[in-house]
Amino acid sequence: MNPKPIIVALDYDCAADALSLAAKLDPKLCRVKVGKELHTAAGPQVVDALMAKGFEVFLDLKFHDIPNTVISACKVAASQGVWMMNVHASGGKKMLAAARDAVNSFNSHKPLLIAVTVLTSLAQDELGDVGLEPDMKAAVLNYATLAFDAGLDGVVCSAQEAAWLKARFGEAFQLVTPGIRLAEDAKGDQSRVVTPTDAIKMGADYLVIGRSITHAPDPIATLHKINSDLKLLEQKENA
Ligand code: C5P
Repeated sequence: MNPKPIIVALDYDCAADALSLAAKLDPKLCRVKVGKELHTAAGPQVVDALMAKGFEVFLDLKFHDIPNTVISACKVAASQGVWMMNVHASGGKKMLAAARDAVNSFNSHKPLLIAVTVLTSLAQDELGDVGLEPDMKAAVLNYATLAFDAGLDGVVCSAQEAAWLKARFGEAFQLVTPGIRLAEDAKGDQSRVVTPTDAIKMGADYLVIGRSITHAPDPIATLHKINSDLKLLEQKENA
């Protein structure tokens, strides 16, 4: 198992709230994710501030645009020194290849480049509404194949898809899985939810966890608890 699989989603509308939650975490125990809400509110400065505190940052801006624009955006993000960034696989082959080339031009501090497949908030019966194959597995496979063929480092997907994606694309293809909920949590707006230990068992490399940690009464205690459950699982699997 990856030694630091948890990525905490800092979904806040201001830098102060994000930094205050980050102050309760520990960069040795998790990475953090800056998404559209926080980045729109607080800009790249909040990414710098988190990196200055020792956190590796997943910049979750899900670029989806013409290749020229995506190249420029990827270069700006990579030059900032983020650890991971992402684009939508639905941007197509040319866009994915452009993103790959842009990130490859950074030899040092080259971030991991990940493609979003089907949002974990989308349920199978909604796929037709957005013009996708009505079968979830087929839709995810199409997007993951595009990403793999363009040389991306992995995909964002539901843990429910992790086992067959690993089998199909190999160990090195990194699977980043949101839609994680502790057994006692509410699903909220996510449809395809899985617990942290089940997600790792199914083959996820990284677990994106937002509300289960950020809304917990004691976020660091929750983080410790998830990490220790995952360690126990690893010990069991290696026994
Ligand atoms: O609070 P919760 O754990 O549901 O947060 C999940 C995070 O993962 C959010 O920041 C959301 O934007 C992100 N995400 C997702 N599904 C994807 C890609 C990213 O839920 N396919």
